[in-house]
Amino acid sequence: MTPFTLELTHTDGAARRGRITTSRGPIDTPAFMPVGTAGTVKAMQFRDVKQTGAQVVLGNTYHLMLRPTAERVDRFGGLHRFMGWDGPILTDSGGFQVMSLTDIRKLTEEGVEFASHIDGSRHMLTPERSIEVQCLLHSDIQMQLDECPPFPIEEAASRESMEMSVRWAKRSKAAFERMAGGHQALFGIVQGSVFPDQRAASVRALTDIGFHGYSVGGLAVGEGREAMLRVLDATCPLLPEDKPHYLMGVGKPLDILGAVERGIDMFDCVLPTRAGRHGQAWTWDGPINLKNARFADDEAPLDATSDCPASRDYSKAYLHHLFRAGEYLAATLLTWHNLAFYQALMRAMRDAIEAGAFAEFAAAFRARHQERAG
Ligand code: GUN
Repeated sequence: MTPFTLELTHTDGAARRGRITTSRGPIDTPAFMPVGTAGTVKAMQFRDVKQTGAQVVLGNTYHLMLRPTAERVDRFGGLHRFMGWDGPILTDSGGFQVMSLTDIRKLTEEGVEFASHIDGSRHMLTPERSIEVQCLLHSDIQMQLDECPPFPIEEAASRESMEMSVRWAKRSKAAFERMAGGHQALFGIVQGSVFPDQRAASVRALTDIGFHGYSVGGLAVGEGREAMLRVLDATCPLLPEDKPHYLMGVGKPLDILGAVERGIDMFDCVLPTRAGRHGQAWTWDGPINLKNARFADDEAPLDATSDCPASRDYSKAYLHHLFRAGEYLAATLLTWHNLAFYQALMRAMRDAIEAGAFAEFAAAFRARHQERAG
């Protein structure tokens, strides 16, 4: 089977244009990965997710191990077959979701014990169990178990947490080497909150262990865009050039633009899917809320030039009506539009890097894109 590799084809400043090869197909970078938490990109069929240009989707260890269980997914031949997506799948390791979704949990050196948000049943997630679950899901790109500390956090507490994540990284790598196939990949996750020396120490420790790619975690947790970009300024130059750089859980289009500018290759975020279900459409000019009365008589589609049916073939007045009437199709069409917009944005960034014109693209996008247009 094809091994996991990254080929960088162009750079422009710190921005990178590349292609990841996986045994289930290529991933052109910078890439945005739609979130398919529980074995579905909510409200969408994978056929349509693919139509937007997405080449890789995300799945969640935490949700899938609880329901339908990783063992059942494995019996169905893995997550790709079970949910009907034949491209690569990246899975998060579960720690982040345990922290954000459960109230009852206990974190120790061994791992994290928690009560399911579904039925209260108790479970233990260790670095080894997380890798086992990700292997049972047949995940192509796996994440080490880590701790994503809250923000703000004291410097000493952040260091302790980061150092534990490094020890979990070592255990995750050892488990991965025992359990995974040669075509699968494992990423280490850089932590260290907003402290540059801790981020640097985290990168040094993770690169000593050696991973197929490096994720930057612990961001978009309330620190704000400027602080996040300062962390990337301190972190990205230290990451191995020949491996993918993945910024976890980010973000708004302007966050992604700033991160690509600094050398990030991969992104995931619930924003386009979650916002879509709540009536928010992201466009080149910024976000708009289709529930707003000003769209009741708006005959124009969201984007007449798009090749996405959801963006091109329905008036804003119709989308407004669907939301007002509480119709299911509303969520589907806006999710579809938002995913298509995010993919179009990534394509435009890749083209700009190829053309050596990323700075011009970024300036034009920032001038046009009004984040608080409403
Ligand atoms: N998703 C967003 N941030 C994080 C993080 O810090 N760790 C993990 N595992 N997943 C994330």
